[in-house]
Amino acid sequence: MTSTTRPTPSMDEITALAKRRGFIFQSSEIYGGVNGVWDYGPLGVELKRNVREAWWRDNVTLRDDVVGVETAILMNTDVWRASGHLENFHDQMVDCKTCKKRWRADHLTSDRCPACGNATLTEPRDFNMMFKTFIGAMEDASSTAYLRPETAQGIFVDFKLIAQTARMKPPFGVAQIGKAFRNEITPGNFTFRSREFEQMELEFFVPGKPDGEDLKWYRYWVDERYDWFMRLGMLPSRLHKHEYEGDELAHYSKATTDLEYDWPFGTSELEGIAHRGVYELTQHVEASGKDLAFFDEESKEKYLPTVIEPSLGVDRALLAFLIDAYEKEAERTVLRFHPRLAPFKVAVFPLVRNKPDIVEVATRIEKSLRPSFRTTLDDSGNVGKRYYRQDEIGTPYCVTVDYESLEQHDVTVRDRDTKEQVRVSIDKLESYLREKLST
Ligand code: GAP
Repeated sequence: MTSTTRPTPSMDEITALAKRRGFIFQSSEIYGGVNGVWDYGPLGVELKRNVREAWWRDNVTLRDDVVGVETAILMNTDVWRASGHLENFHDQMVDCKTCKKRWRADHLTSDRCPACGNATLTEPRDFNMMFKTFIGAMEDASSTAYLRPETAQGIFVDFKLIAQTARMKPPFGVAQIGKAFRNEITPGNFTFRSREFEQMELEFFVPGKPDGEDLKWYRYWVDERYDWFMRLGMLPSRLHKHEYEGDELAHYSKATTDLEYDWPFGTSELEGIAHRGVYELTQHVEASGKDLAFFDEESKEKYLPTVIEPSLGVDRALLAFLIDAYEKEAERTVLRFHPRLAPFKVAVFPLVRNKPDIVEVATRIEKSLRPSFRTTLDDSGNVGKRYYRQDEIGTPYCVTVDYESLEQHDVTVRDRDTKEQVRVSIDKLESYLREKLST
């Protein structure tokens, strides 16, 4: 990274770049799209995989106290009854009888419709945000099911099986990445609030005693999650810890912190880290009649562990990284992605496309780098244009094969951030790039 501050781009700049370069498209665009649903293009899918992989590696692979699971999107409806989602996961809505627009009651400042100005609003009505479907051939109340609105419940209901089979003992965590669905009333700000999205959630189970152990872990996760964004190059000036006070806290929560990001449309939640007490496990014990308590063989104690939950949206994280990386300079737009996140790590250019020897060496180099890094070969336009094309999608290094390469067996490596160019011998290229990219 060369700069520690840069102007925040507009959402229009971000959405235009995302579409132009194949990061994110409107879903089913040729039919007019679906509000709040998005597709990831060839570069978006690489970036998304890298976001997930960075999270999984740092929160699961490199730790000895976290295991992973992948639970189903469809769950028994009793799960949502017990968790409170059937009863409480809704917004209060009002409809305008004149223009038929629907509004969230808490967003209205008067009894008039913000669109048409008429005082023809209905009384507030509950609107559940879970998507409903049916399991099996019958479409009746007994076959009703819901698409999960969060991945966390799969972890809670499997808690005992996971602890037993993985032989884990609190303090330990269970991580999951997967789709979640919410029929958001007001999806918007690009992928920030979507109706179909993905979550990366970690339920960290800690012994409730000794007193204070839970808060120690809560603070640990708030700091660890903040540091994760910093390690991935996010600008410190744009990420803030917002600790909840008083009424902001859920009734079962001792403490909650949001990591808030300065989005182009204002400061708002990127990730939440919540102390959830024993709320969910208690609910599931009561509703299922099953004993989910953990039995500690050593101390012979049996208890329901307290839960600390860092919960982050993949799509929201990706959007934050995209905005954060964006910088417009006089002659180029550059995405200053951390190398771990960049969709392509290396682009290889044959200086000219009509000289078979040069094309052959460039193709061979690009192929030989593929097992180590995500690479691309680009042979169209002059090299300056190609640099700018790669800068705009955040490729950290460009390698050019020229006439000299045929004699000297070396290439030019150009750095995205400093624009510096150095000659590197072809047989040392892989290790040179590996070192540069392993920040
Ligand atoms: N299990 C806790 C939970 O789901 P949440 O605050 O509702 O908590 C956690 O969601 C994270 O999921 C948010 O911080 C955000 O990153 C992401 N998220 C939630 N709703 C979203 C939506 N409609 N679109 C995109 N991401 C969303």
